[in-house]
Amino acid sequence: MSGHGEPTPMKSRRGGALKGVAEVPGDKSISHRALILGALAVGETKIAGLLEGDDVLDTARAMRAFGADVIEHGGGDWSVFGVGVGGFAEPDNVIDCGNSGTGVRLIMGAMASCPITATFTGDASLRSRPMGRITGPVGLFGAQAYGRVGGRLPMTIVGAADPVPVRYEMEVPSAQVKSAVLLAGLNAPGQTVVIEKEPTRDHTERMLAGFGADISIEETGEGRMITLTGQPELQAQDIVVPRDPSSAAFPVCAALIVEGSDVLVPGIGMNPTRNGLFTTLREMGADLTYENERIEGGEPVADLRARYSPDMVGVKVPPERVASMIDEYPILSVVAANATGQTVMRGVKELRVKECDRIDAMARGLEANGVAVEEAEDMLTVTGQGAGSVTGGGTCKTHLDHRIAMSFMVLGMASQQPVSIDDGAPITTSFPIFEPLMAELGARLERSN
Ligand code: S3P
Repeated sequence: MSGHGEPTPMKSRRGGALKGVAEVPGDKSISHRALILGALAVGETKIAGLLEGDDVLDTARAMRAFGADVIEHGGGDWSVFGVGVGGFAEPDNVIDCGNSGTGVRLIMGAMASCPITATFTGDASLRSRPMGRITGPVGLFGAQAYGRVGGRLPMTIVGAADPVPVRYEMEVPSAQVKSAVLLAGLNAPGQTVVIEKEPTRDHTERMLAGFGADISIEETGEGRMITLTGQPELQAQDIVVPRDPSSAAFPVCAALIVEGSDVLVPGIGMNPTRNGLFTTLREMGADLTYENERIEGGEPVADLRARYSPDMVGVKVPPERVASMIDEYPILSVVAANATGQTVMRGVKELRVKECDRIDAMARGLEANGVAVEEAEDMLTVTGQGAGSVTGGGTCKTHLDHRIAMSFMVLGMASQQPVSIDDGAPITTSFPIFEPLMAELGARLERSN
């Protein structure tokens, strides 16, 4: 929910090797979608392995506010009794999506073609993020949006009473925008078409098909064309959420840079629209293997094994890989700092509109710990210091951004001096068990107040 409590300063210091099995929580993207599509289906959707982080819990509360029955059974098992496509009730209060851009953007899309009005807000980070990328396309369906200057939250969406289907060519490569358009298209009669030049994560398309929607995907000269037939009756599903590759990134990268480490991270979603980090790490020379590759719940899954890799070298990360590792650039820059040579990340300007400006946050934090960086609007270059050679000793600002907080905690695990962060509280948005899980592997994290 919006407004975090007191900041939680934290410190991470070098210890012994990291060893063991790291069972990271469920995928955040898939968890949001399971709740939202469950709420739009008819019958009981059963979800196993839901991420019980703040972002997803905010989406669960929101689905209740729109009329779905959302029940927590414990241990990641949840049930959602949906209201059917077009069946959303008007919430009787403001919807608070906390820190979650995915939550607010997908929900805005889902309600924009229903004849109801809803007002959305979030924490200071979310209230600073652009919503124009959603209000533009949902306006084409007939919805109206009234927000703050620059398209910021709080914002009221008046859903379209008579929605029309839309043909939308994506202006920014964003799975959140694509998903918002598809979710709005669910309650518009006829065919809604989305065209994306650069493929982004496809969990919404996969899950819509699983719920029985008529959706087709075609590679065309214009790009990837997704066609959805509106007003289907979605059938409740049993969903098993794979573990989150974006969370797996932290124990994996920690193991690569902490001397003597050997960590197994089982059951990780390996959807090709998400696994760009692991490809990049292997190009850098990481000892990272995929074991037991399989399909679970319609998503490719593997067990990842990461071992200490002192000989990693900097690489040029191709811009066409950006979408498949958009959330992993912060932790990649930590690995890059422990490699040899420069790692050049181009085409990354979307990082400036995430939970915080992630290029700036990483650049300042790395500099504070003795790592040379170069930054441009659309680029970040990190000069590797070599394995275990980052000086550390700095304090980094996390700007309400969970991934910045966890990245600097990992940096501290391999640095000569401890690394501090001003606030680790946001970690609970996506990885509520980060501290005990890393401690169990042998990391030395402490809360410093
Ligand atoms: C997400 C999409 C990405 C990503 C975010 C989750 C999603 O954002 O950064 O953490 O679940 O659709 P964009 O689609 O805006 O790049």
